[in-house]
Order: sequence, then structure tokens, then C-alpha cells
Amino acid sequence: MSGIPHDHYEPKTSGEKWLHSRLPIVGLLYDTLMIPTPKNLNWMWIWGIVLTFCLALQIITGIVLVMHYTPHVDHAFASIEHIMRNVNGGHFIRYLHMNGASLFFFAVYIHIFRGLYYGSYKAPREITWIVGMLIYLMMMGTAFMGYVLPWGQMSFWGATVITGLFGAIPFVGEALQTWLLGGPAVDNYTLNRFFSLHYLLPFVIAALVAIHIWAFHTTGNNNPTGVDVRRGSKAEAEKDTVPFWPYFVIKDVFALAVILVVFFAIVGFMPNYLGHPDNYIEANALATPAHIVPEWYFLPFYAILRAFTADVWVVMLADFVTGGIVNAKFFGVLAMFGAIAVMALVPWLDTSSVRSGRYRPMFKWWFALLVIDFIVLMWAGAMPAEPPFSTISLIASTYWFAYFLVILPLLGVIEKPDQTPETIEADFNAHYPKAENPAE
Ligand code: HEM
Repeated sequence: MSGIPHDHYEPKTSGEKWLHSRLPIVGLLYDTLMIPTPKNLNWMWIWGIVLTFCLALQIITGIVLVMHYTPHVDHAFASIEHIMRNVNGGHFIRYLHMNGASLFFFAVYIHIFRGLYYGSYKAPREITWIVGMLIYLMMMGTAFMGYVLPWGQMSFWGATVITGLFGAIPFVGEALQTWLLGGPAVDNYTLNRFFSLHYLLPFVIAALVAIHIWAFHTTGNNNPTGVDVRRGSKAEAEKDTVPFWPYFVIKDVFALAVILVVFFAIVGFMPNYLGHPDNYIEANALATPAHIVPEWYFLPFYAILRAFTADVWVVMLADFVTGGIVNAKFFGVLAMFGAIAVMALVPWLDTSSVRSGRYRPMFKWWFALLVIDFIVLMWAGAMPAEPPFSTISLIASTYWFAYFLVILPLLGVIEKPDQTPETIEADFNAHYPKAENPAE
């Protein structure tokens, strides 16, 4: 697939030519900033920049925190208190990092659901999608290991429960769990390796983000109509697009500023709202907390993990057929990872010829239900694992799988899509009639 035709960087002065013939870095930056971008992008397309900001924020605040943090079970908890009380601005840096993780996940969920609605995962953007899914998995790993570092009660018990899940994998589980922990139980060796990986993974994420951006710059951005930019000639492409700089830079920076007002209000006035008070109690291997609850952004998948208990018929069937290898615990683990896997496979599960949900009358309803389903799962994940919450979790988990594995493939066959606009330009002009001639 050839890129969208547009002007490329031409070195003018002899200095520019000298550099360009040796390292075309200015050209790369120019082409990245001036990339033709569909002019009808709506506010759902700002979240990529918010995510990039979050990644930078987490890396910068994280590096400062590390200057004062001690990764040892005897000192970790106290070193966090030291950051909060003694280090200049320490509480602010820590609260930025803590709540920055929440903003990161909030943004990534909107970014993912945006992609699911507008069909941004469909050909030719499958690689952008798959790399995005890898980023998401890395984000989950990073956040999980970061949460262990303050060495509070939830850190310790969360790590114990989650690493215990790997122990449920048949044959290799126990060895895998020991390998992950660095020993037989969560202890200093665990804290050390989690600290090491928590520092490393954000840089792996940064590299994946570069590949993510490279991929969608190669295919061009999707847009709310899902209609492709015309590529016959530069003049034609220019009717559907505007350069990223300055138009979308200004739009994105404005949106980021609005979001940051809310973010800083939370950091300033209610920094512990999203956290669990038990994590202000130092880890104690002899006292289990009443409820072990993960952070809010893990709750939907935590609900799926707990939904498949031994009395559910599919679990009983799997247990029977595999001679007890796939028991309830392992089934839960498979369901949790499976819930992410089906999402990753969506480019191949969605059979519709129309990309954007805007022109899919039946899809819209099922998609709305998926969003509600996700919120229900998040809520159910925070509730105790008992009726009626366990039943609600089971129904919601079933819908999650049904959406990707049954509804999406079927809809593409039975649904009659609405007429899509001829061009992006036509859609844009229909929305902003005056923009055709701003002088009018
Ligand atoms: C650190 C995390 C991430 C960063 C920094 C990031 C960054 C970006 C940016 C800047 C864009 C272009 C602007 C926009 O569409 O908002 C984008 C597009 C896209 N992202 Fe991400 N992303 C991240 C995670 C993800 C994840 C987890 C997925 C889902 C699997 C994903 C899927 C996509 C898709 C499909 C597009 C193309 C959208 C289009 O062309 O319209 N991204 N991303």
C-alpha cells in the first residue's frame, strides 16, 4: 500500500543537505508532523496523544521516585512514606504517578473502544491493532508490578493471588509460579524482580508505541466515516486531509489541557480516591485482608476470571472431558486471557464490508451493549464473589465472548449497512457547510 501523496522535506541550505545525506532525521520529523490527516477526525481521536503524554509522565515521575525508593522488603514501605513526608514535592510526584496510571488506563480504554466502534482494526490497520494489544498487555504487567512496590497489604496479597493463578496451569504451573516469584512465595526476591521489570517495561512500551505510530502512518489514519482518503493524486488527497501540524496539534493540545484540569483536580484534592486504604498498611504475610481487590482498571478481567466457578456447566464439561486438567481455576485463567485474545483477533472476526459503526444500524446496538457490559464487569469485579454478583459476572462474561465470537461474525453477513459517504470531503462539507468557503 502506498502512502498518501504529500510534500516531503527538501533540504535547502548546504548545512541541511550535509545532514540530510548522512542522517535524514529532520526529514523524518518533518514527514511525521506534516502527515496528511483526515480532516473529519472527531474528539475520539485525541486519546492517542493523551496516551503519549501519560507514558512520558509515568517515565519522568517514575525516574524521580526511584531516586528515593528502596526495593527491599524491610525498607520499601518506609521509603514510600519518606517520599510522601520528607522529599521536596515527593507527595506530589507520587500522586502524579499513582493517578497517572489511572489516566493512562482510562485513556487506553476509550482509545480501544473508539477503535472497536469505527472499525480502526480492519484491513489495512491490523498491525496497528495487534501492536496496540501488545502495548495493552505490557501496560497491565507494568501496572501490576508497580502496585507491588509500595509493599502494602494490597501489594502483597494482590501479588500472591495473581501469581497464584499461574500455578493453576497444568504440569508447568508450579515451576512457572516459582520462576515468576523468584522463590516459593512473594518475598524480597519477588520485589526485586518486579522493581527491575517495572523500570524496564515502560521503555519497551515506548518502542512499541513508535512501531504503532509507524504502522498507522504507513496506512494513514482511519476516520469516523471509515472511508479511505483518495490517493490518486496529491490534489485529490488534499481535499480529504489537512497536515497534522498545526491543525491537529492545536486540537490535541487543547483537549489535553482540558483533561489535565480534571486530572490535576483529582491529584490535588482527592489523590487517594481510586486507591485502596489497605495499601497504607505495611505488607503482612500473616494477616489476609478481608477483600483482595485489584485496581479499578483490572476489574473487568478480574470479574471474568472469577465468573467461571466449578458449578458452571461449561467448566464441569471442560473438567470432565480433560480428566480434571482444565479445572475451575485453570478455566478462569484461560477465560481471563481469552477475553483479551478475542479482542486481539477482532480484525479477523469482524466480517462486515463496512468499516465504521456509524453506517451499521444493527452493530450500533450490540456495540452499545458491549460498552455497558464492560462497565458491568468492572462493577461486578469489585463485588464479593457470591450471588447475585457471581451470576451477573457470568452473564456479562458470556456476552463479552459472544460479542466477539458470534455476534460480530454473524452481523457482517445478516446486516444491511447504510450508505457511506462517497468521500471524506463530502462528509466534512455536510457537517461544516461554511468551511468550504470560510469567507462566506
Ligand atoms: C501507550 C499506549 C498507546 C499509545 C501512546 C497510542 C498512540 C496512538 C496514537 C497517537 C494514535 C493516532 C491518534 C489516535 O487515533 O488517537 C493511535 C492510533 C491507533 N491506536 Fe493507539 N496507542 C496506544 C495504545 C493502543 C491500544 C492498546 C490499542 C488497541 C489495541 C490501540 C489501537 C490503535 C488503533 C487501531 C489506531 C488507529 C486509529 C486510526 O488510525 O484511526 N492503541 N494510537
